Amino acid sequence: MCAQRGDVVCPFVLLLGLALCGLGSPKPAGSPPAQFCADPGFQEYYFEQLLDHFNFESFGNKTFSQRFLVSDKFWKQPEGPIFFYTGNEGDIWGFANNSGFLVELAQQQEALLVFAEHRYYGQSLPFGAQSTQRGYMQLLTVEQALADFAVLLQALRRDLGAQDAPAIAFGGSYGGMLSAYMRMKYPHLVAGALAASAPIVAVAGLGDSYQFFRDVTVDFYNQSPKCAQAVRDAFQQIKDLFLQGAYDQISQEFGTCQSLSGPGDLTQLFMFARNAFTVLAMMDYPYPTDFLAHLPANPVKVGCDQLLSEAQRITGLRVLAGLVYNASGTEHCYDIYQLFHSCADPTGCGTGSDAQAWDYQACTEINLTFNSNNVTDMFPVLLFTEEVRQQYCLDTWGVWPRPGWLQASFGGSDLKAVSNIIFSNGDLDPWAGGGIHSNLSESVVAVTIKGGAHHLDLRASHTEDPVSVVEVRKLEASLIGEWVKAARGQQEQLPPSPGQQD
Ligand SMILES: *[C@@H]1O[C@H](CO)[C@@H](O)[C@H](O)[C@H]1NC(C)=O
Ligand SMILES: *[C@@H]1O[C@H](CO)[C@@H](O)[C@H](O)[C@H]1NC(C)=O
Ligand SMILES: *[C@@H]1O[C@H](CO)[C@@H](O)[C@H](O)[C@H]1NC(C)=O
Ligand SMILES: *[C@@H]1O[C@H](CO)[C@@H](O)[C@H](O)[C@H]1NC(C)=O
Ligand SMILES: *[C@@H]1O[C@H](CO)[C@@H](O)[C@H](O)[C@H]1NC(C)=O
Ligand SMILES: *[C@@H]1O[C@H](CO)[C@@H](O)[C@H](O)[C@H]1NC(C)=O
Repeated sequence: MCAQRGDVVCPFVLLLGLALCGLGSPKPAGSPPAQFCADPGFQEYYFEQLLDHFNFESFGNKTFSQRFLVSDKFWKQPEGPIFFYTGNEGDIWGFANNSGFLVELAQQQEALLVFAEHRYYGQSLPFGAQSTQRGYMQLLTVEQALADFAVLLQALRRDLGAQDAPAIAFGGSYGGMLSAYMRMKYPHLVAGALAASAPIVAVAGLGDSYQFFRDVTVDFYNQSPKCAQAVRDAFQQIKDLFLQGAYDQISQEFGTCQSLSGPGDLTQLFMFARNAFTVLAMMDYPYPTDFLAHLPANPVKVGCDQLLSEAQRITGLRVLAGLVYNASGTEHCYDIYQLFHSCADPTGCGTGSDAQAWDYQACTEINLTFNSNNVTDMFPVLLFTEEVRQQYCLDTWGVWPRPGWLQASFGGSDLKAVSNIIFSNGDLDPWAGGGIHSNLSESVVAVTIKGGAHHLDLRASHTEDPVSVVEVRKLEASLIGEWVKAARGQQEQLPPSPGQQD
């Protein structure tokens, strides 16, 4: 159903297979499809947020500025629903820019859009620029972040006179975990959650530690078995050259800025290279994107084609890694320590201040002890065991990961007591294996997107979308519509009116 407003383009009308995105703002031929069906015109705001929700003494009343984005362009004020994106480990604009489905859905269901930044990321820094240094991280927990969202949502409802507007939580990846947790911990505030690509089982320490890199490998193997073999060969050749002491040759062929000088450098090079495959697999979208990196359409295929077209395997690996590390074409050589920071998340933390904060989370509540083993995956043996993690976290942050806490706090995969959550996963996404894959109840449903990479469903509709994501988005829209309606019905039933049934 389309909103009955003259200026709104119906987002879900598909005509001859062509999405109507961008209608009304003609684009020159050949220009990329519009990211949003209509520009939501997000406005940026800051909320004075309590520093510590769980302690009345150390920080008392002290607050920090939490950033959030709002679009009321499609909102039927005050009763239209609130679609609330629970921000994850980065600048909130990055998620707003890559979650066009929320905009389409807001247009369809006349919702207020809110994207809330996660504390310690982007501009939402509790202690300014020093926030992500050791000694200032104690207020970075999943629980504090959820409490921020709860308090912000309450304040928005109050300030907008929207006390009765049902809210739905949305998120992708860690943000998807947060949206699911939001529904679990604050069911009186959010009527349901769309948790896209949320690895809630793996992060609670209940996964198979070889699953992640095995599933990255499967993507490349399915692209072509020759490609996966070429990757193994490239790593083996590097290792052989290293054992022969041919350090300069490795640097020349792979393009590192410095010559290797010991086993530590070899490990760093291996992690640097392995990370490129992780990014390509996660971001294997059917059209060019600019999310974690600036990537072409179908980057796994492009990477394999480039790797196989080089005469030398090591050079092939270098070119493939360039898709991630040399998109600009301006890196004369790879500074493997600068471009990749090894951290408590072996799938990569990124670089900069956001990466520091994520490292801390991976050292405390979020368990990401993934290994590659050169048997069930195509990568060199790179172990990140619980012992290695503990030592690293103690050395880096002075903290010790707490076994079982996330499971105790959120239930791991035991979600019997929960309702109204959609867990969506793409079958190309290496994170999918760490998530929920079966329908746990009538209203806790798992859906799989065939041909989908990391939370593809949250992205705007696109002509290159696989059929499956179109169907999944329709199902999501209809479930969310039902939850909103039911939440409204509950309000109307207070006090209960005898004889009246919904
Ligand atoms: C805490 O906030 C309340 C209300 O804003 C104020 O009245 C009180 O003085 C504050 N207390 C401290 C210790 O800052
Ligand atoms: C989001 O999109 C805006 C507008 O295209 C752009 O200026 C901004 O740099 C983007 N921000 C991020 C973090 O992607
Ligand atoms: C983290 O998860 C792994 C399994 O992937 C498990 O062996 C380990 O004990 C967990 N660590 C903590 C601290 O929960
Ligand atoms: C992976 O295992 C194979 C077979 O055991 C071995 O020949 C190869 O050197 C290993 N590769 C690396 C990079 O360790
Ligand atoms: C980065 O790309 C440029 C342009 O294609 C190329 O000349 C350069 O060698 C690449 N850097 C590395 C380290 O491969
Ligand atoms: C869960 O239920 C939905 C319909 O509500 C269905 O589309 C989906 O395929 C089911 N998932 C599984 C894993 O059976």
